[in-house]
Amino acid sequence: MEELSISRPYLLQADDLTANDIQSIFSRAQFFIDNYKPGVKFDDLKGLTVALTFFENSTRTKLSFELASKRLSADSISFQSSSSSQKKGESLIDTLRTIEAMGVDMYIVRHVCSGVPGFLQANTCGAVINAGDGKHEHPTQALLDTFTLQKHFGDLKGVKVCIIGDILHSRVARSNITVLRTLGAEVKVCAPGTLFPRRLNYWNVEIIEHIDDAIEWADVALVLRLQRERMESGLLPSIREYSNYYGVNFEHFAKKPELVLLHPGPVNYGIELDYNINQYPNVKIQTQVTHGVFIRMALLSLIAKQLKVKRAKVA
Ligand code: CP
Repeated sequence: MEELSISRPYLLQADDLTANDIQSIFSRAQFFIDNYKPGVKFDDLKGLTVALTFFENSTRTKLSFELASKRLSADSISFQSSSSSQKKGESLIDTLRTIEAMGVDMYIVRHVCSGVPGFLQANTCGAVINAGDGKHEHPTQALLDTFTLQKHFGDLKGVKVCIIGDILHSRVARSNITVLRTLGAEVKVCAPGTLFPRRLNYWNVEIIEHIDDAIEWADVALVLRLQRERMESGLLPSIREYSNYYGVNFEHFAKKPELVLLHPGPVNYGIELDYNINQYPNVKIQTQVTHGVFIRMALLSLIAKQLKVKRAKVA
């Protein structure tokens, strides 16, 4: 069997990954899908300790990394900033030093500030995986999204993906644009002008103004959550207006039943998506969650391998 590997012993952003890295992660994920049975444990992370360090709320990412670590036989510890000594004034770097002193090898990091996973990687000899940092990146979300699409289409070359909604605040959009293009997909975006980053041209992404045109063009609608918690006032006239102009609804599926729809979750049903939209078979929201566990198992497995190589060189 081909020996799978990735280039780096960490993952901070989507462009840390080459096309070969991504396909290695997908192959390892498929191996786990084919071979996992309830109660079965793999020994890829035996002897390693994983810290789930979440400074911002999460359901899918945190639980799937926790499950992935356990299925790979890691010891895992869980840190939640809201119930930690950060509430007593402990700094980020002191928190890292404290966790590191317990013998941790891998850190899964989510933080409200962009750049925190990179800062932590620069200050540890362990491996950091970015589980979502501010408006910057969410690379494992992009991996599970593109894996879901590759399994549906077979190959992403030439597949047309329109990212719809709150691009301005979305780390998912940033990571997906990079991974989708690395795999050969064509990417456009659709959103109100106030929810585009001013420097969108940095990506050279074409904008489709009207949702009906976006659905007509796309093979895939990757719909984003309206991130009301990160939003300054005045960006939208009203939530109802946003929903009327940019929500994906039953009429879109009636016109184009073959449309594939992804959403990273959590979903604001009734705003960016119609209630009960999950009844359409090409709405992949639950499949994304299922794939998230296997993609994170694959990533942990391949990063652990690289970490062992790095440590052997240092020793
Ligand atoms: N998609 C995603 O990151 O969801 P959580 O915030 O629940 O982890």
